[in-house]
Amino acid sequence: MKLKKAGLLALVLALVLGALPIGGAAAKKEKKDVADMDIPAILEDVDAKGTINVYHWWTAGGEKDAVESVVNDFSDSYSNIRAKSNAIPGGAGGAMVMKVKVLQQAGKSPETFQAHPGQEIEPYLSSNLLLNLNDVWEYANLAGRALPGMEELSTASDGNKYIVPIGIHKTNVIFYNIHVFEKYGVEVPDHEDITWDEFWAICDQLAAAMPDGEYPLDLGDRKGWPACQVFEDIMLGTDAQIYENFINGIYSVEEVTSVLSTYAKLMDYVAPDHSSRDWYEASGQVVAGTYAMQIMGAWMQPLMTSMGQVYGEDYGVFTFPGTDGWFGMCIDGFVVSNDSADVEGGVRWAYNVSTPSVQTAFSTLKESISPYSDTPDEIYNALTLRFKNELIAESTKVYPSFTHGTALPWSASTSLQVQIQEFATSSDHDAEYFANRIVNILKESGVKGDWNLVE
Ligand code: BGC
Repeated sequence: MKLKKAGLLALVLALVLGALPIGGAAAKKEKKDVADMDIPAILEDVDAKGTINVYHWWTAGGEKDAVESVVNDFSDSYSNIRAKSNAIPGGAGGAMVMKVKVLQQAGKSPETFQAHPGQEIEPYLSSNLLLNLNDVWEYANLAGRALPGMEELSTASDGNKYIVPIGIHKTNVIFYNIHVFEKYGVEVPDHEDITWDEFWAICDQLAAAMPDGEYPLDLGDRKGWPACQVFEDIMLGTDAQIYENFINGIYSVEEVTSVLSTYAKLMDYVAPDHSSRDWYEASGQVVAGTYAMQIMGAWMQPLMTSMGQVYGEDYGVFTFPGTDGWFGMCIDGFVVSNDSADVEGGVRWAYNVSTPSVQTAFSTLKESISPYSDTPDEIYNALTLRFKNELIAESTKVYPSFTHGTALPWSASTSLQVQIQEFATSSDHDAEYFANRIVNILKESGVKGDWNLVE
């Protein structure tokens, strides 16, 4: 696995904080400093009492069971602490940031909440709202156990750790319904790393054969982020250098226009009412055969499982065209508020998600890759194991997702999602017009990354 962040990402600045005024005068609770806490003693105090609020956005089929298993394991480890699971629907974390902001301002910070490492958590750090988890990393030997690259991606711009990773998903995947291909006589290529030409040929054949009301593709972008997910896949699949430039703040209207021109072509094959559904509703329609394919991260696997679908029999996957050899990285983790009612309880939760028992149960149900090398390969199904082996292969190049929090500031990523959704729902898909708007958003947010994806 190769991923070089030449330096630490810089700048989550006045604008971002202005757009996200978390913390500050309204936060009522006193902040705890890790320097005054004995982390090993806290983690070993299995008789501790209390209640912790855990916020996450796992509400789709499969995801729900996975987070439930983490709650159950926590209750086994700390039987006198009640972990209350609070689900913020929507996926991808955008709604979580708003929710946490409101809770923090009301003086009700959640003890712990789901986040993606990287830019997504920087605004909390700028407002000093997260507990430093360096001692948890040390206690649980997370640096020693982490898969290559994971420690660097989990290290914040100030050099400290504030997040404990729980799972990893690949983002550049297309899921397809095998039965739909069979029904319409469309041959499935004998390789998953399809080229753009093969992809367009598949879309053409499906479009020609499917009756009115059925489509080769759907986006399920009622929440916006799935449309942005497709944008980032097309961007990497067009040219990795464009992606690197984009997340480093070197914006070119021409480059974004070329990405959006391909996106416009893709929209010819997408169900026209794509934005009326959430991503998991679109997946349900893929299973029903209304749509043949969905461009989605690998978290669609447990959803397919929850609908009784079997990889290789009912559904298959393609690598998003042009991204063969690349692994789009989406990391889930938990952070701990430093001003909640039970900061120690939050620390216990964050530690617990890294334990082998949680990693085994969670990775099995979420069908995600464990961030830790001591999670045995036996727990993975064939597809997840393939993705894991891809991730750790020396020849694989990794790129951080900006739809899923890591590579762009939250405010930029949120505005981007709105623009891309507007682009996808517009009647003429005017690539140049939207490229100008996108470039302006990102210029205004002052993004200046230092990623080195392309050697
Ligand atoms: C998370 C996944 C989750 C998906 C949809 C992503 O941002 O990283 O774990 O399954 O959103 O909810």
